[in-house]
Amino acid sequence: MTTTVTYPRYLSDDWHDPGRHFDVNSPATQTLVGKAADCGEAEARAAVDIAWRAFESWRAVNAFERSATLRRWHGLIMAHQEELGRLMALEMGKPIREGRAEAAYAAGFVEWYADEAKRVYGTWFPSHHQGKRLLAIKQPVGPAFAITPWNFPAAMLARKAAPALAAGCPMIVKPAKQTPFTAIKLAELWLEAGGPPGTLQVLPTSQPRPLTQVMMSDPRIRKVSFTGSTEVGKLLYAQAADTVKRLSLELGGHAPYLVFDDADLDGAVAQVVACKFRNAGQTCVCTNRVYVQDGLFEPFVERFTQAVEGLAVGDPLDDATDIGPLVDEAGLAKVVEHVDEALSKGASVATGGRATGGLYYAPTVLTNVTNEMAIMHDETFGPVAPVVRFEREEEAIEQANDTPFGLAAYLYTRDLGRAIRVSEALEYGLVGVNDGVPAAPYAPFGGVKESGIGREGGPWGIEEYLEIKYVSIAIG
Ligand code: SIN
Repeated sequence: MTTTVTYPRYLSDDWHDPGRHFDVNSPATQTLVGKAADCGEAEARAAVDIAWRAFESWRAVNAFERSATLRRWHGLIMAHQEELGRLMALEMGKPIREGRAEAAYAAGFVEWYADEAKRVYGTWFPSHHQGKRLLAIKQPVGPAFAITPWNFPAAMLARKAAPALAAGCPMIVKPAKQTPFTAIKLAELWLEAGGPPGTLQVLPTSQPRPLTQVMMSDPRIRKVSFTGSTEVGKLLYAQAADTVKRLSLELGGHAPYLVFDDADLDGAVAQVVACKFRNAGQTCVCTNRVYVQDGLFEPFVERFTQAVEGLAVGDPLDDATDIGPLVDEAGLAKVVEHVDEALSKGASVATGGRATGGLYYAPTVLTNVTNEMAIMHDETFGPVAPVVRFEREEEAIEQANDTPFGLAAYLYTRDLGRAIRVSEALEYGLVGVNDGVPAAPYAPFGGVKESGIGREGGPWGIEEYLEIKYVSIAIG
């Protein structure tokens, strides 16, 4: 793999070079992918001034015109699908097939919000006064700041920026330091689509704290959207209080997958594999613990293990690859630590269970797992599936809900009553019934409990960027 990208500039009102850069290395080869602009406090302050000025003009642009700009952006993202997929493979090790799919997923958000821009409806509602007319209108909340994660560098940027831009809010994005290039490419395409300068700014940095501090303390930033760890989400929640910013937090999870005796075995295996091993298990909504009912346990473990052994581990740029590397040393260390601790407490390896060189970890299935093991509570963010036996539905629900997290949960059953009953009982923001990959641009995405606040996607996602203003008109 050769060095193929270098974007030493960042996008503010125009392209700028801060004169400081940081290296982005490929997790697959650990060689240099390119150098990114390293933005700091000064660039952040300038970005807020620019966003504030851009807000005045962007909010005044007709909704149909904003919609048309988003639609052109959608077309350009699709036209650059291959390039975006390749960038993700290079900078974060995502298998290229998944990278292409993610580019289309990102474009899906842009397309959805291109339409949604035209549907920001107000309400004219009755008053008990004969001489009054009452309105509730929706207006853009103001300049927004997004912190986007490395695991879905295109889709998470689009899921935040598209509704903001559709609503009339300029957006400043700080991409994860592992994945600045995908973000920069999307910003470049926004400009090419006719997006006015300053409406979408992308400021990569290797030192997120000083830049984020500027955004969190400036009262002109009216909305913050973050996808990442619960630990950082809690800090941002506290910091947002000072200037009472609107906040969306999409934080950690620990998703259970309940497979009942009545499940179709092949279907269940296929969905659990898709759910767990997508992006090498580096997905907030991927299952972290698989509970299988007694009667199906042995055949499930056998078939699931075979399926996992069939996953192709390799070069993210190769079309045949299912599983790429972990994103960095810290990511790999956590996987190793979780598996080793589980093994030291009595877990058994059905397949995998070892690092295989570089940042690669063999896709792993563990059995004989107990609640004392860290892997059952703490998000592993890697290609490891602990499988646990259960007997009764109530017991499975209780174990599934026994966590501070509440992002996604899954179940597999043929029984309609059970599907509804269990979905209602699971304390999660998203439930997949016989569906291991439920997220879509037009659906609400977000968690309960310590997995976050707010919803992204669909008609719910744009409300996060809108304020409601009540207008009372006395007509005499
Ligand atoms: C995430 O893991 O944060 C996003 C997953 C998705 O949207 O499918």
